[in-house]
Amino acid sequence: MPRSTEIRQLNDHVGEEVTLTGWVEATRAHGKVAFAVVRDGTGIAQTVFFKKELDPEVWERHAALTQESTVAVTGEVREEPRAPGGYEIAVRDLQVIHTSAEYPIQPKEHGVDFLLDHRHLWLRSSQQRAGLKVRAEISQATHDFFYDRGFTRIDTPILTGAIGEHAGTLFETDYFGDTAYLAQTGQLYVEAACPAFRKVYCFGPTFRAEKSKTRRHLTEFWMVEPEVAFADSDDNMRLQEDFVTYLVERALERCSTELEILERDTSVLERIKTPFPRISYTDAVARLQEKGSDIEWGRDLGAPDEVSLTEDHDLPLFVYNYPKQAKAFYMKENPDDPRTVLCDDLLAPEGYGEIIGGSQREDDLDRLRERIAEEKLPEEAYDWYLDLRKYGSFPHSGFGLGIERTVAWITGRHHIREFIPFPRLMNRLNP
Ligand code: 4AD
Ligand code: MG
Repeated sequence: MPRSTEIRQLNDHVGEEVTLTGWVEATRAHGKVAFAVVRDGTGIAQTVFFKKELDPEVWERHAALTQESTVAVTGEVREEPRAPGGYEIAVRDLQVIHTSAEYPIQPKEHGVDFLLDHRHLWLRSSQQRAGLKVRAEISQATHDFFYDRGFTRIDTPILTGAIGEHAGTLFETDYFGDTAYLAQTGQLYVEAACPAFRKVYCFGPTFRAEKSKTRRHLTEFWMVEPEVAFADSDDNMRLQEDFVTYLVERALERCSTELEILERDTSVLERIKTPFPRISYTDAVARLQEKGSDIEWGRDLGAPDEVSLTEDHDLPLFVYNYPKQAKAFYMKENPDDPRTVLCDDLLAPEGYGEIIGGSQREDDLDRLRERIAEEKLPEEAYDWYLDLRKYGSFPHSGFGLGIERTVAWITGRHHIREFIPFPRLMNRLNP
């Protein structure tokens, strides 16, 4: 291949001849001048063809270009404020690497099913690129945040024998005659790593056989789960607000171009500062009832309840200490009100709802055993987890933040399926 220059680096090459390799997004011709917009994965650049200065074969090749054909274009870099990206290539040579067949995605509105069927191609579209770029930045920022604070990253298994959250949403698979589950969470394993490293986190794909077709549910999603020894529920909420604020700041700092492509009103994000408001579950139920809801104490909050609670706030809102029956078995009983557990959900503003679920963990062996029995979970699968309460038990807390929901909120887009490269939904396993 000819040595090519990346479009993102064109500013270092003004006045020089470079070769770009990439995909043709669009072409047009006006008499003796023609253009091709080339995307190379690092940016887009306009290339301009002047008929009278070109080998006639090059002019012919331009005329035959189809959308998404791959090319190597050679020419001089010029500043051109009117061109996308601010630079233009005055072409001397064009080599066609592959002539694309007629591209199914045209610059017009397509239905979402069509786009999802063509996800392998839809990825190339500018808003999809922008969204996934923000996701990549948020992922990197996640690692940076925890690394800078002295956390050790623990990679937790995807095939597991113990149910991590709830029995209702498991993907099961045969494991040499036994049953394995795809991990709903890495939490139980990061808890085990705490006595070794004190502050740990995992970050990977998690799986839930959710039979819900909402804008907030995927069957495979990525979750970051920190776990901290000798931290209580209050410390846990402080870590969550610091983390979320950091992610928003990183997006504002490093993804301004992408947020603009996604038409995000960034003034909303600029207001995200700690501390975040907090309301107990019990007070939240009272507030919802005042607003006319028929919710009763004990029921989990649904998406409409979350929207109603957050509409009075610009900041994300913590709802803490939910009733025991609405939450997972591992949460610590609240000593001040044993009907509830020491936990929190963080609800994003603007109608996005829960992006984090967190809790202080039950560190008392007997109470944890009771909860496992109450939830009808098989105790033998939790032998090792119960050991953590036998050998140097310790107060500890952690949380899980869903990456796709967080990125959907930060970018202000409706559906989380756009923020994972290949979404897995109840009715979608391909591509
Ligand atoms: O509240 P969840 O179920 O909490 C846990 O899994 C804990 N084990 C976390 C922990 O304490 N270590 O899930 C945490 C977050 C949710 O707040 C949400 O952002 C995301 O994971 N999430 C989903 N995202 C997309 N699709 C789904 N089906 C999701 N289910 C949960
Ligand atoms: Mg939750």
